[in-house]
Amino acid sequence: MKKYLVIGNPIEHSLSPKLHNFWISQNNLDATYNKMLLDERNIKEIIVELKKDKISGINVTVPFKKTVIQFMDQLTPVAKETQSVNTIYKKENKIIGGNTDVGGFECALKHINFDARDKKVFILGAGGVVSSIILTLKKMGAKIVLSNRTKEKAENLKKIFSDLEIVDWGKTIDFDVVINATSLGLKQEDKIGIDFGEYKNKLFYDVIYNREKTNFILEGEKLGNKVENGKTMFLYQAQLAFEIWHGIKPKIDKKVFQLLNND
Ligand code: ATR
Repeated sequence: MKKYLVIGNPIEHSLSPKLHNFWISQNNLDATYNKMLLDERNIKEIIVELKKDKISGINVTVPFKKTVIQFMDQLTPVAKETQSVNTIYKKENKIIGGNTDVGGFECALKHINFDARDKKVFILGAGGVVSSIILTLKKMGAKIVLSNRTKEKAENLKKIFSDLEIVDWGKTIDFDVVINATSLGLKQEDKIGIDFGEYKNKLFYDVIYNREKTNFILEGEKLGNKVENGKTMFLYQAQLAFEIWHGIKPKIDKKVFQLLNND
């Protein structure tokens, strides 16, 4: 039986095992997918397991998307450009670090028929997934402004994307789309504390996927904006990883959305 893993810290809230195991059984594959809470110092051991074929594939989540890069033999072009790896596999005896967050976000925007060309996108946060979001939007022709509580992390992203505009945390700008890519919203009581008072008919996009309506989404709705949570992005990045590992494109239908809703 082939073994797959998602590694991260914390990891208990990850819905990846539920989703991948559903697709594994739907496609009658002899495989299993588990989550593993990891310390940074244990990453190397896990990669060695992959080298020895004891594990067949690994998904990487917060906070290791960048940390794992040093253990890869090769990066895909997208992983290299974003400096972010979320899907690891072995090919021709080499450990490959891939990134399906970019493709996942692209599909998620297509899913809601959103055309980012010439749109002004305001990104809140500078965590592991943000470089993938920026690359996707850049490719689509959007203009990006970013704000993060710790300005240094925003400035590190500017080293990768030189045309990124940065504004101080707490300030707002005139935008077409605002994306919450912070971890604020994981808890129901979390509030971002930015005043979006004047905005309506915009898109409020929350990357958080394990809660239907964060306070950010609720506020966007209340002000009269279109809203979307991170569920579609989560599903599409998983679909792309599944395809890399198993050579099968699993279905994204009502059933899988329901599967995530049940939590
Ligand atoms: P990581 O940074 O390890 O990749 P993440 O969950 O992807 O983790 O990112 C967390 C994001 O939420 C960061 O942008 C973080 O801001 P800092 O860089 O300043 O830490 C942001 N965040 C978390 N708690 C926050 C808070 N209370 N207020 C504002 N931003 C917060």
